[in-house]
Amino acid sequence: MNRPKHLLVANVAWAHETAAGNPAFFRDLVRGQNPHILWIGCADSRVPAETITRCEPGDLFVHRNIANLFHPEDDNAASVLEYAVRVLKVGHVIVCGHYGCGGVRAALLPPDPALPHVNRRIAPLCALAKTHHAELDGAATGPDRINRLAELNVLEQVRQLRASPIVREADPAPLVHGWIFALDDGRIKVLTSGYTSDDAMTCTTAAHSAA
Ligand code: CO
Repeated sequence: MNRPKHLLVANVAWAHETAAGNPAFFRDLVRGQNPHILWIGCADSRVPAETITRCEPGDLFVHRNIANLFHPEDDNAASVLEYAVRVLKVGHVIVCGHYGCGGVRAALLPPDPALPHVNRRIAPLCALAKTHHAELDGAATGPDRINRLAELNVLEQVRQLRASPIVREADPAPLVHGWIFALDDGRIKVLTSGYTSDDAMTCTTAAHSAA
């Protein structure tokens, strides 16, 4: 499944099979969307939101970028949040990072001069790594260090989202959850859930040793 023509062939098969299995499926899609969840995930090809959660079209409103970052001054991410909360009125916002994240790894390395856009995007992640350098330096291995920063990054994005006026001023405010996906077994671990900010930094789980 690595060429555009393969995707088109697969699409035809999927459309046929879906309509055969549920004749009302596409009619319902045309009527509009009513997702209850905004998913903010990494752009990594190995972490497709719908696939790993067995969701269907219409289930998730999705925003993905390198290292699942949210910043209120990033109009791309903020506009997705704004629309999801104020128009779609989602009840939940899930930030789902993943172990072995290349964007997180890059934040622990010197900037690559060939990637100026990436370098600017992950600058807050580099700052987060500096803030937690004592804990990160104590990690047993390089992958452990990356994976712990991936967890801290999810918690930081949750904190940013909970502090956002879009979330705080919503009534009812959506619950903001922090999850992380393990590439080595396909399982999601919950780092934080619920609206109160108190539990956002309680995750003290040792870094996962995923590759
Ligand atoms: Co990633």
